[in-house]
Amino acid sequence: MSLSRSALLGLATTSLMTGVSAQLKTCSNSNVFSCQSSSHVPSCCFNYPGGALLQTQFWDTNPSTGPSDSWTIHGLWPDNCDGSYQSSCDPSRAYTNISDILLSQGRDDLLSYMQNYWVDINGDNENFWAHEWGRHGTCINTIDPSCYSNYSPQEEVGEFFQKVVDLFKGLDTYKALADAGITPDDSQTYALSDIQAALTSFHGGASVHLGCSSGKLNQVWYFFNVAGNAIDGKYEAVDTLTKSNCPSNVRYVPK
Ligand SMILES: *[C@@H]1O[C@H](CO)[C@@H](O)[C@H](O)[C@H]1NC(C)=O
Repeated sequence: MSLSRSALLGLATTSLMTGVSAQLKTCSNSNVFSCQSSSHVPSCCFNYPGGALLQTQFWDTNPSTGPSDSWTIHGLWPDNCDGSYQSSCDPSRAYTNISDILLSQGRDDLLSYMQNYWVDINGDNENFWAHEWGRHGTCINTIDPSCYSNYSPQEEVGEFFQKVVDLFKGLDTYKALADAGITPDDSQTYALSDIQAALTSFHGGASVHLGCSSGKLNQVWYFFNVAGNAIDGKYEAVDTLTKSNCPSNVRYVPK
């Protein structure tokens, strides 16, 4: 597929400004948010069917993972607009060498960050990252190889991991809760509604999904709709599509 001259100029300008690869076709005219228009067919500028993008996080305490004052990354999932989801959409791109791919792209700093903040509860980060990419990342239609000009293999993998980390850095759950007086504690319980209120306020007024294990808070999912592609597009906070499994009073225990 060929690009128009203005699209090519746009690409050149973007890469000059950001210094990063800008080979995803630009979606500068896209103001239509995923899941908010039924008239749009899937394209490189419209996330579909996975139009609800979820930045998901863990609070692991048994065993503990990651820094004691931070939640950790679970992933970025393209759920369908009704909360169901596709998985493992392209086995041919289900890479198991994520670290090597990131290093080959000069993404050393990203990999270091992931080793601290995107950690597997069993200590097998490489397997966890491969799982998240193969199961969820390959289902994001707007980063399909066909959406790139001058595609070089695995380029979308590096962009996916960078995007997940960038979103996570803007979603500091530990701080959002601490600012509301909710800190990990061995003895007290917290009202789930207080936790939801604090994180809804933090997430631009959109409710989040809270997950528990044995009555202990251990997951949060932030839902977004996106205008444009999943890398350069605009992310808009939207309400959770899935019900919490937490009791009305939960424990939030220290790592
Ligand atoms: C990662 O694995 C894929 C599939 O086996 C391979 O094509 C690619 O060259 C590998 N990349 C690196 C940087 O090792």
